[in-house]
Amino acid sequence: MSSGGPAEVAVVGGGAIGCSVAYHAARRGARVILLEAEQLGSGSSGALAGMLSGQGELEPPGPLLRLMLLGRERHREISEELQDLTGIDPGYVWEGALRTAVDEASSELLAEAHALQREEGLRAEWLTGDEARELEPALSREVVAGLYLPDDGQVNPPQLVQALARGAALHGAEIREATRVTGFIVRGGRVEGVGTSRGEVPAGTVVLAGGAFSDLLSGQLGVSLPLFPVKGQMLITNMWPSPIRANVWDAANFYVVPKRDGRVIVGATEEPGVYDRRVTLGGVAELSRAATSLVPALSEALFAGSWGGLRPATSTGRPVLGPVEGWEGLLLATGHFRNGVLLSVITGEIISALALGEEPPTDISPFLYGSLLTGRLE
Ligand code: GLY
Repeated sequence: MSSGGPAEVAVVGGGAIGCSVAYHAARRGARVILLEAEQLGSGSSGALAGMLSGQGELEPPGPLLRLMLLGRERHREISEELQDLTGIDPGYVWEGALRTAVDEASSELLAEAHALQREEGLRAEWLTGDEARELEPALSREVVAGLYLPDDGQVNPPQLVQALARGAALHGAEIREATRVTGFIVRGGRVEGVGTSRGEVPAGTVVLAGGAFSDLLSGQLGVSLPLFPVKGQMLITNMWPSPIRANVWDAANFYVVPKRDGRVIVGATEEPGVYDRRVTLGGVAELSRAATSLVPALSEALFAGSWGGLRPATSTGRPVLGPVEGWEGLLLATGHFRNGVLLSVITGEIISALALGEEPPTDISPFLYGSLLTGRLE
């Protein structure tokens, strides 16, 4: 950390969001401390396939889609910068995504999404089942239509987290793992730092980036975050060469993601309100069934592991970003639900700008705590 007194920015949470905030704030010259209760990336960020689904999630037009597209663009811009600075390869791949349909109902939904994306000026190509199999020959014969989204990509989340944290440290940030934040230092209506399992950390601004558990801390300030976990179980297989190239999705929102090292990640269940990250037999069965129905060759893939992560969801489905009225010195950066990795870079830019008293790079009014509370959507 650059010398000269207490931290300007204390970041609570060492996942993709927290590490990105630390990276961008330190890069702008701020004195930064990042506090992580366990190890970097030990929460949801370490348990994700890492898709950069600006379009693959089929988010309808609106502020969240705009943020997601900006988020994807920012990943493109940062990939080389991070690798050159840190020597860590965040594992970017830009091979697109393929959404698939297997019957009339799922084809109709896909066709609607196609029309909306084209209206937004996005690249999205409608394919018949045979055209989809030309693109991805291992795709099941059951697939009757596809939507190819050439601009989506993917990254390796644990490596991205490490690259952002190393980059932050190279810009002078101090990274403290195994340091649990227990509360806030408060004077008047101002947050002036945090208390931790290893002593107090005074700071000009505290950024709360603790994923699904951020409400436990914010509650101490009377800031009630309508946040809940949506557990996602995933499994990983080894198959080389990979039978697929793009991120391939089925009609029920399961996906298969080929990593550069020969692993194929299959995700993910959606289990709202479940705080337990452990893997269930039912979860593995559901994922195996989805993967092998979509890409039958995966039946021969070697099972290499499974895990669960907790997506931090909000009542509006949008992240909550920025200040909280009545609590100067506090910034929120959580609630990214299915889009934590995708939105990590843009969130880091937004929150670091706010922490340093600068204009954020995009309008954050749809993501403010106030609009989350009223449930007001554009
Ligand atoms: N981003 C995909 C998921 O949350 O499952």
